[in-house]
Amino acid sequence: MLEKIKATANFIKERIKANPETGIILGTGLGGLVKEIEIIDSIPYSEIPNFPVSTVDGHAGRLIYGKLGEKEVLAMQGRFHFYEGYSMTEVTFPVRVMKFVGVKTLFVSNATGGLNPDFKVGDIMVINDHINFFPEHPLRGNNIEELGPRFPDMSKCYDKRLRNKAKLIALEHNFDLKEGVYVGVSGPTFETPAEYKMFRILGADVVGMSTVPEVIVARHMELNVFGISIITDSGVPGEIVEISHEEVQQVAMKAEPKMTLIMKELIKSI
Ligand code: HPA
Repeated sequence: MLEKIKATANFIKERIKANPETGIILGTGLGGLVKEIEIIDSIPYSEIPNFPVSTVDGHAGRLIYGKLGEKEVLAMQGRFHFYEGYSMTEVTFPVRVMKFVGVKTLFVSNATGGLNPDFKVGDIMVINDHINFFPEHPLRGNNIEELGPRFPDMSKCYDKRLRNKAKLIALEHNFDLKEGVYVGVSGPTFETPAEYKMFRILGADVVGMSTVPEVIVARHMELNVFGISIITDSGVPGEIVEISHEEVQQVAMKAEPKMTLIMKELIKSI
């Protein structure tokens, strides 16, 4: 596995001839950020050795190397979800590769159902902690000491400095930015009302089907992490309505300018 990670990282490094320190997973809501990147190279996942290939609508699969302001970035356009059938090793493989390319800080975004009654559909939330509710742990199995320790600390997953900066950016631009806990679930079903209620009782503010595996693996390797969620639908009792993937995408697109702004300003500032 370590050989595969290194081989893939070497392929990317030889191709882009650079060591970008900023990694981005362009999840739902961050499509707009691509337009802000001055693209230097773009590699379809199908051309990257050992990379899985993404399948879901709205998640094109390519790795983008470019500049966002003055910062060199390596951005994944399209991520691998557990619900698609990928193993946890596959879901998290690109994050491990990023580390070996030279990435030090990882930025992730996602779409979520809101559980906190103070949150509205269309709001965005900085993730300050998570609950891992996936049925399989991404670090299960032999530990690769070169990546990180057997029992990694998870007390500071989401970089506090970056969170504070994001709040300042939102304040400066006069928009509301929530903060809270993301619970990661396997999907692909959206939650039943009883499940939304359970996740709220367990301490989560939003629920989504990604991010937690990638963040765990990133923290195992001591990458700094910043995560941001769009609330695309409500899981609050009395507010739950039928939803579809298309509606999730539509709400996410509306929140895109705010997400893009925060990410752009934040990445510039590091
Ligand atoms: N639940 C889980 N994942 C989601 C949701 C949701 O309500 N909305 C967007 N992704």
